[in-house]
Amino acid sequence: MTLNDSRILVVGAGLMGAGIAQVAAQANHDVALFDARPGAAEAAKAKLAQTLDGLVAKGRLAAEAAQEALARITPVDALCTADLVIEAIVENLDVKRGLFADLEALLPAEAVIATNTSSISVTALARGMKRPERLVGMHFFNPVPLMKLVEVVSGLGTAPEVAQAVFDLAHRWGKTAVHTRSTPGFIVNRIARPYYAEALMLLQDRAARPELIDACLRAAGFRMGPCELMDLIGHDTNFAVTSSVFAANFFDRRFTPSLVQQELVDAGFLGRKSGRGFYRYPEGAPALPGCGFAVPDAKRLVVHGQGFVAERFAAAFPHAERQVLSDWVGLEADRAQVRLTDGRTAREIAVGRELQAPVVVFDLPLGPGPDLAYATSGNFSDPVGWLSALGFAPREMVDVPGLVVARTIAMLINEAADAVQQGVCDEGGADAAMKLGVNYPAGPFEWLGHWGAGAVVALLDRLDAHYRGERYRISPYLRHTT
Ligand code: NAI
Repeated sequence: MTLNDSRILVVGAGLMGAGIAQVAAQANHDVALFDARPGAAEAAKAKLAQTLDGLVAKGRLAAEAAQEALARITPVDALCTADLVIEAIVENLDVKRGLFADLEALLPAEAVIATNTSSISVTALARGMKRPERLVGMHFFNPVPLMKLVEVVSGLGTAPEVAQAVFDLAHRWGKTAVHTRSTPGFIVNRIARPYYAEALMLLQDRAARPELIDACLRAAGFRMGPCELMDLIGHDTNFAVTSSVFAANFFDRRFTPSLVQQELVDAGFLGRKSGRGFYRYPEGAPALPGCGFAVPDAKRLVVHGQGFVAERFAAAFPHAERQVLSDWVGLEADRAQVRLTDGRTAREIAVGRELQAPVVVFDLPLGPGPDLAYATSGNFSDPVGWLSALGFAPREMVDVPGLVVARTIAMLINEAADAVQQGVCDEGGADAAMKLGVNYPAGPFEWLGHWGAGAVVALLDRLDAHYRGERYRISPYLRHTT
């Protein structure tokens, strides 16, 4: 079956519905737009006219194409028949079920209903429908015309050919579609949880300030750090998504929401929209001060280990000896060790060494940016100089396992591995979803390939041993890859 020439009805002319109508009309579909609020569909069309005019003015769209797209959108004041209905109304199970009952009374049997729900089970939405096999999730991302990803969500009853037809249609619209099962958070909202959760854990443990966490993750290639991103999304919204994923997983403790965020919500410090969250607005995240350095002296330098971090040290210190078959990665400078985090604290490593020599652990340098977290065992005279010589701006934080970037990336990989284990998506789908749905600089499985499965598993095992909870348990899928 194909929906490529379908007449489309978009129900709900809000933020998402208007964007969906625009994309469908620009792909040559006739689009009827309905909203329960009188005048809302007309208003959405008027706003779309402005948006399209803006694109024409910027030279991104021909005037004729804009006029044609607009002419294809018809605001309607009642539900009408169509080959494909895309629902983007209020996020409420009963209201959506009510709409589907009304639609089924009106639509031909072969019509498809696609829901843009971001958090409700497609399986549950289909319950009570006459034709549950014709319901599928078509989860767009905001803003719809710009975001490339569409999660095509199959509920238990969804017919495979219906999911495939919606997948093909999204592709025709210039989107990247990924198949997923109807599980809490689907792909993106599930795999992304640790991006927020690890930052909140560090804040709860008073291990680092929000500006340090944000700077380090920005340096790792993320467009926004987790704290500024939560401020942008709104703590109420972000907390609600986390809570719903937690509840939907029968309160699996690895998804436990954070008291730090609960406090912000309780205070009404919701982020940008209320003028204050982690930061005050309009100022936003303060810049971290610059750091000067001098490379310390050492009689003996040894570069330990293999991989991209060891190579960076070797390039910076060409006269250093090499110990490729070492069980750690980094630089030995006389008695001191400057080590890539392996999930142990600097103090743990230092105590384990006979001479109690100084140890500094530094974060995973995924880079392009300079900020890099480090922690010391307490008796290190100049860790900053060695790291600065590699081009980093070293940022000291409390000596907790996995620092900032390493623990966050490891947990994103772990969550993605669990999603694959449970048949939510495949590896390619997880990578595409995270890059296109939330603009991650790489996909979880791309990071895994770069960093190495052994290192990721070792780090997670140590986090697990340190915190002794459910949060850091390793996905069987990830363990099997080592
Ligand atoms: P919105 O509040 O901007 O728009 C919803 C529209 O639906 C309103 O205009 C409202 O009048 C209308 N409406 C409510 N009940 C209706 C009914 N029974 N029949 C017809 N129209 C009705 O909401 P938004 O943000 O566009 O979200 C819509 C859906 O898309 C929700 O299910 C949401 O979870 C989902 N979604 C939202 C995203 C976002 O970033 N805002 C991202 C992805 C999905």
